[in-house]
This record gives sequence, structure tokens and C-alpha cells, in this order.
Amino acid sequence: MSIYFDKKDNVFYLSTVNTSYIIKITDLGHIINLHYGGYIKHINEKNLYIEMPRSFSPNPVPGRMGYSLDTLRLEYPSYGNSDFRMPAYQVEVENGSRISDLKYKSHKIFKGKNKLNGLPATYVENTNEATTLEIELYDNVIKLKVILSYTVFEAYDVITRTTKFVNEGFNNIKLLRAMSMSIDFKDDDFCLLQLSGAWARERHIFKHSLVPGLQGINSTRGVSSPQQNTFICLARKNTDEYNGEAYGFNLVYSGSFAANVEVDQYNNTRVSMGINPFDFSWLLKQNESFQTPEVVMVYSDRGFNHMSQIYHKLYRERLCKGKFRDKVRPVLINNWESTYFNFNEEKLLNIAKEAAKIGIELFVLDDGWFGKRDNDTNSLGDWYVNKNKLPHGLNWLSKEINNLGLKFGIWIEPEMISPDSNLYRKHPDWCLCVPDRSCTQSRNQLILDLSRDDVCNYIVDSVSNILNSANISYVKWDMNRHLTEIGSRELPPGNQKEVAHRYVLGLYKIMNQITTKFPDVLFEGCSGGGGRFDPGILYYMPQIWVSDDTDAIERLKIQYGTSIVYPIITMCNHFTDVPNHQIGRITPINTRANVAFSGCLGFEIDFNKLDYAEKDEIKKQIQLYKENRSIINFGNFYRLINPFENNDGAWMFVSKDKKEFLLFYFKILSEANKPLKYIKLKGLEEKFNYKLENSEEIFGGDELQKAGLFIPDNFVDFQSILLRFKAIN
Ligand code: DGJ
Repeated sequence: MSIYFDKKDNVFYLSTVNTSYIIKITDLGHIINLHYGGYIKHINEKNLYIEMPRSFSPNPVPGRMGYSLDTLRLEYPSYGNSDFRMPAYQVEVENGSRISDLKYKSHKIFKGKNKLNGLPATYVENTNEATTLEIELYDNVIKLKVILSYTVFEAYDVITRTTKFVNEGFNNIKLLRAMSMSIDFKDDDFCLLQLSGAWARERHIFKHSLVPGLQGINSTRGVSSPQQNTFICLARKNTDEYNGEAYGFNLVYSGSFAANVEVDQYNNTRVSMGINPFDFSWLLKQNESFQTPEVVMVYSDRGFNHMSQIYHKLYRERLCKGKFRDKVRPVLINNWESTYFNFNEEKLLNIAKEAAKIGIELFVLDDGWFGKRDNDTNSLGDWYVNKNKLPHGLNWLSKEINNLGLKFGIWIEPEMISPDSNLYRKHPDWCLCVPDRSCTQSRNQLILDLSRDDVCNYIVDSVSNILNSANISYVKWDMNRHLTEIGSRELPPGNQKEVAHRYVLGLYKIMNQITTKFPDVLFEGCSGGGGRFDPGILYYMPQIWVSDDTDAIERLKIQYGTSIVYPIITMCNHFTDVPNHQIGRITPINTRANVAFSGCLGFEIDFNKLDYAEKDEIKKQIQLYKENRSIINFGNFYRLINPFENNDGAWMFVSKDKKEFLLFYFKILSEANKPLKYIKLKGLEEKFNYKLENSEEIFGGDELQKAGLFIPDNFVDFQSILLRFKAIN
């Protein structure tokens, strides 16, 4: 049983194969953490629960000097009644009080996992896959019920948390803060790892030691962003890819969020994660409830790579859903970098014809096919075909493309509205805005107010009309700006701080409706590159565009950082032209292919412009990719050389049965008179002998892992190799 309640000591044991999460109800009804980390069968509760009197730490029971909310390791701390650290939640009630005190009331343990109303979350396919503990806490004064939910995915080695608030009183309660989870560790010997960046520099890895006081990351951008990913990891200072403890926390949410870490005066470390409390509040009337997003927590005692593999498997199998979840993804060609807005039917068909000849499976028509859009100043919202560019319409084009043997897909950006659009002229009141102020534009566009049902319905209808109008097998769902002037004309002044979260709920509602209505369409998330790479989007769309930066060398870091949490099958990478459009670098064909291979492969290039030899090389590479696609999409991924710290990079994919593997090695800048280069491989069967393809060389799995593989590093700048090995016995 993965969740067990020890009635004698009032202790809950939550166990996965390698992890224990142990919490206790104190005699005063507070829930405290005794241990989160490696698996422990049973604890001596007196060893892990110590009441130590401390100066300046107030005591709820006079005279019981060792019991203080200021020093207990609390699971869902309140504000204002003696814990001076960051609270997990805060309320404001009608008499002006912001204080509450939650005490244990009851709990239940059940098999399976409940769905979260209106929010994406990990799921089970049968109830044996997970066990859930719900602890009901109660504030008797304001009649507030708070349910802490913990789901243990025993075999996946994952614990998820979420929190629900219910107002059972007669008076309104305003939530000022409602984090999804909070946990206190009993030491501060950690580094904080985060995935941060900017447009074209997504998910770069940053790591720093904790210091006393508050630290962490947060976003006020209203939607997910490249600036901060909804992920943090606390790792021991000596943790590396394959050794040491790492705790990952990933919020399944696509809006403004906060991940706070606080080291207190006695070196306890508090981590909390959830919707950003800044500029947030939520009014709970009698009997109304509020559900927080989910946090997926992973503990690894085998370094970062093991943590990543746990996330990869869970997200591949129990976050992503739908028909494409378990299918290898099509190799696509997208016209963006080869035409931008400047295309017509002939140009598109010429690109598609050449693409079909070399083995591409899907043609994607990017931005510019609708309204009167010839640049980014207009037409968002006018989701009907631009007859100047495509006089025969989308249906005709999709058939022509299909006749070439390719599936057909399109780009949309449905959350946005251009001031120069028929939609805006008809509904100027449909965008996010605040009274008496103009709306700030970004990429010449405004944001539709998704907190409104009429706007959401328009989006569902207009996207459905497009998808019904032609044989469309794929959609790239883009979103090219962040939220400003976050206000809605539909809500009263007292509810305006709900708008940012209501936007995200509206987005999830329309994504849910559209993806349910069109189960045969493959959806890909995008936000000005990889700005919206988060688990919330992955729940609806099983793949996401990683970055607008398509330079192979820059992408080594972006893809390496993204793989810390997100499965390789969710990462879309495109081979593009040189000089690279973002940075002007010239990289060899095989390096561009090898980098793009490490995910879902696509191309943004007009093959008509390549010579015969180049086309032939790409054709062979596509063939190679297809032969190995299932290992790349579904095998185990191992990071070997970190391009953030080295002048090279390497990673490998191993098939589930360990009988085949692919090793990718990338040189950044060449060097003179280098030391010999050996790479210790991972994830192999030590007993197997592996033969290097196109050679007679045979290596033992033990040799490759323990002694390493010699890489004849005579590379010039930006060169790379892909080596394929197969077990021979
Ligand atoms: C941003 C995307 O990341 C690009 O791939 C492209 O689709 C443009 N938007 C189109 O406007």
C-alpha cells in the first residue's frame, strides 16, 4: 500500500518505489513534515519530531515553549498567527481580518486520482496506478475548509500535490494567496536550479546555493514564458547528472506563478509553488470552491538525469493524452523561415513537392494565410482564408498537398486580436483592458479576454470552422505576447484580480473543447518559439516548438535545458538554412540534422534551393531518423556532456530493451593539441556486446560505461557525429 496511516503516532507514510514522504498530525491538529526523500520503511517519530524552545518564536499553548508555528516544519502554513515565514495561503474576511488557522479535521485514502475541475493534471488509466490521500483542514472561525491532496504514483516514483478551498460559512472569503503546495525541509544544504531565459534563449540552466531568507522565481506575465519555466529543483551541492539528491517541483500551469524558497533562522528550507499571489485574489462566496493547479514532485537520489527520466516517463504516459500520445510523430516541413509572409499557392506547392520527394510526411502552412495578413500588423482574429494569397482556398490547397503524399497542417494564434482586424472593428470590447486607459500593444496585437464565455465561444467556433473547412491533420497553436492591462469589462471591480487566472482557465476550456472535438488532429504548442513549454499545455498538446532560435549550436543549450523536465518526444526541432536566420552562423548539414533529430524532426527550408548532393544527404538523414524515431521518441534519454559548461556536448538515446542506442556528440569550437576524449556511456546492459554500425568495432556494455568510448576528436568548429550501436548477442 503506497499510503499508510499509523493511527498510534498519527503519521502518514506516502511511499513510491524509492521515495518516502512522511507527515504527521500534531496533537494540536497541525500537519507537519517529518521526511521527504529516500524510502524509509518506518520512522521513530520522536527522532524526527522535536519540540525545541526558541526565543521570539510564539507558542499557541502558553507554557509549551517548544511548540511554535514559527519553527515547525509545516505542510500548509497560515499567515498571522505566529509563523513569520512565507505562508501557503492567506484570506481576507468581511471584518477585515487576514488571519486564519487550519487544523486537521479528517482524512481519506483512496485508490486512483480525481480529475481537477477545469485544470490540466496528471491522470491514471486505472485506479491501481495511484493512491490519493486527502487531508481536510478546517478553520472553525471562518468556516473555511481546505483539502490537501497528495497522489502517489508508486511505480512512476512521483508524488503530486494540490489544494482546494471551500467556503462553508455565510460570509464571503477573499483568497489573497493560494499556493498549490508548501513543504519544509529540515536543512538548507541545497542549490536551487532553475530554467530561465528570454525569447530565443529558452530554458537555460542556472544554479546557485541557497542563502538565508527568500529566493526563488516568479512570473507576472499572465501566461507561461521563456523568462521563467514553472520548474525548480533543490539539489545537494555535490549533485551532478548521475549522483546525489535532487528534488524537482513542476507546476502544471500556464499563467503567472511563483516558486518560493525560504531559508529560515534555523536553516529549515521552505518551498512553495503555485499561482503568483502578486495581483491575485479570488472571491469565495458561500459554498464556492477554488482549486489550485497541481505540482508534480520528483525525488532522485541518482542525480539530475534520473529525475529527468522520471518526469519524462510520467509526462509521456500520464500527462500527455490522446491519439498521438503513443505514436511516433511525423517529420514535417514548415514554410515559415523559407517564405515568412511572402508566399502564394505556387510557392507553397513547390516547397511541398520537393519535400515529398525526400521523405517529409506533413506540410505546415505557417502565419499569413488568413485575413489580409502580409505582415504582423493585422488580421489576428479574422480566421478565414486570405484569397489574395490562396485564391483556391484551404480545402483545395490541403487536397493538392495530400495528393503529393503529405498531410496538411496550419498555424493559428487564436488568443490574439489585431487592432486592424474585422473582429476588432466589430468587438472592440473583447480585449483585455482597464477603464480609462489604452491597451499596450506588443507585436502590434492585443489579447482577447478569455475570462469571457462569449469570447471563448467565438474562438472555439472560428477554429472549428477552419478545421472543418479542409483536410487539416495538424495545428500549430502560437501565442506571441504577454498580458498587460489585465482587466475584464465583464467582471465587477472587486473581482478584477481574478482575471489573469480566469484567462488561463478560459484557455484551458477552449483547448479542451477544440482538442476533444478534433481528436485526429495533432496539436503543437508554440509561443514566439518555446515560451509556452509547460506541463499545462502538454496536457492538451503532446508536442511544443522549442525555440525560434534554430541555430544548431545555440540549440544545444536550449534542448539540454528543456530535457531537464520535458520528454524528448514533446520537443519539436527544425533543421533550417544557413547562414542561420537568427544569428548568421554557418553550421554543417549533419550537425543541423543531428540537433534537430533529438526530438520531433521538422524542416524550415525550401529544398528547391539546395543542390542535388545536399538534397540527397538530407534524404538519407530523414531515412535514418525514421529508422530510429521510436528510440528517440520513446527510449531513455541520457545527458552526457553539458554544453553550458564545456566546449562540446553529448547525449544518447537507449531503446527500452537496451539492445540499441544512439550517441550524439557535438563539438562547439575546435581546439589544437587536445587531450584524448573518452565519454562514459549510460543506460546500457553491461553484459551485452554492442557493435558500432558501419564498422567491425565491438564494445562491451561494461567497457562503454566504465572505461568509456574513445571519440576521435579531430573536429572542426560545429562538427558533430551520430553513432549507432546494436547489441549482437
Ligand atoms: C512565432 C513562431 O515561433 C514562429 O515559428 C512563427 O510561427 C511565427 N510566430 C509566425 O508569426
